[in-house]
Amino acid sequence: MKTRTTRALQCSAPLVAAGLLLTACGSSGGSGSGEQAGSTSFEGRGPITYVAGKDASGVVQKVIDGWNKLHPTEKVTFVQLPTDADSQRQQMIQNAETKSDAYTVLSLDVVWTSEFAAHQWIERLPEQQFPLRNMLKPVVDTAKYRGGLYAVPASSDGGLLYYRTDLLKKAGITKPPTTWSEMTADCAKVKRLPEAKGMSCYAGQFQKYEGLTVNFAEAVDSAGGVVTDANGKPDVDTPQARQGLEFLAGAVKDGTIPREAVTYQEEDSRQAFQSGKVIFLRNWPYVYALAEKSKMAGKFTVAPLPGLNGPGSSSLGGHNLALSSFAKNRATALDFMRFFSSEDSASTFLKDASLAPPYAKLYDDASLVKQYPYLPDLKQSILHAVPRPRVVQYGDATSAIQQEAYAALTGSKSSTQALKDLQNDLQKYTAQ
Ligand code: GLC
Repeated sequence: MKTRTTRALQCSAPLVAAGLLLTACGSSGGSGSGEQAGSTSFEGRGPITYVAGKDASGVVQKVIDGWNKLHPTEKVTFVQLPTDADSQRQQMIQNAETKSDAYTVLSLDVVWTSEFAAHQWIERLPEQQFPLRNMLKPVVDTAKYRGGLYAVPASSDGGLLYYRTDLLKKAGITKPPTTWSEMTADCAKVKRLPEAKGMSCYAGQFQKYEGLTVNFAEAVDSAGGVVTDANGKPDVDTPQARQGLEFLAGAVKDGTIPREAVTYQEEDSRQAFQSGKVIFLRNWPYVYALAEKSKMAGKFTVAPLPGLNGPGSSSLGGHNLALSSFAKNRATALDFMRFFSSEDSASTFLKDASLAPPYAKLYDDASLVKQYPYLPDLKQSILHAVPRPRVVQYGDATSAIQQEAYAALTGSKSSTQALKDLQNDLQKYTAQ
């Protein structure tokens, strides 16, 4: 692990003076089209790039096209990275380490804020320029590092339990399960139906990548455990965490989770659900709109995640817009970030692609709730979601989690040993 200098907290509370944003530290005020946050100036107009994981729905290009029409000399090019979070992170880090200006606005996973801010790969942003007070607080918190705003929420994410309403109904089940044992009992009933021949019970994302960190953390939290405690200290070698990991490992062993699910990322598991391989699926809200356009349309819905003794809890996911420290045309970038993270854009992302909005209001909008009846539940799930460890060495922490969870899931280590080893590893990476 390389050591780099971390960003010291240089600025105190921002001030708004004469409509111009200033901060209590840094250089002199903005000029012309520029804005200032800390010592950063946001100047220069012209073409920029927006860099994010592959968009399965096409809505991102649609929203960018809307911007490009209005800004012919400040066009945004969408640079699509691979679908998995770890590859996106690697490519963004490579770009930053070479100080390349190829990436302007980054779609940062909520768990990377500390790492990117501490290494000065992204700029501190002027808070007053964004309608943060209309957004859900835990979502805004993911964009902060040491009190400063380093990114702007574009979409949130909370885990949901997708399930086959058609099959549950046929099996005489009227309510979705709220516990893991209810879920497996429901599966046993459904599997007696001829239509469920060859189906497996449950899938999530269990390949060794960021999705496994999410699924592992959810299992631990949903059994009453924690990965890190309220002070950020690892506390994963506990009986509760063991029950969470045991649920996943035991389910792979006895076939409740199909063996091939240890190769699943989000998209593979969505395909497995849409093609009728599994009865229950843990996945993010984006799956809803896509599954509604598939042959599964009308045959499924979603419920909160189940847990050990009652409803489970979700990991907090989502993506925030950050400005690369090596980017040009920053005045354009800031305007684009405001546009792309606006309530209007969030509403388009929700309507077209069922992405969870950062804006509180949209969860209670009657026409949106009609389109997505689960929105009130999703809002609660996001408000109570558990953040993954907030650490500068996030890359190391998440690889340790992936390593140990995967070993337990595939049976090469006992859950007890995996959690002991994980506790030791995490202690190295979470010391701030
Ligand atoms: C989703 C979430 C993100 C998470 C990733 C894991 O994209 O929004 O926070 O890290 O899935 O695969």
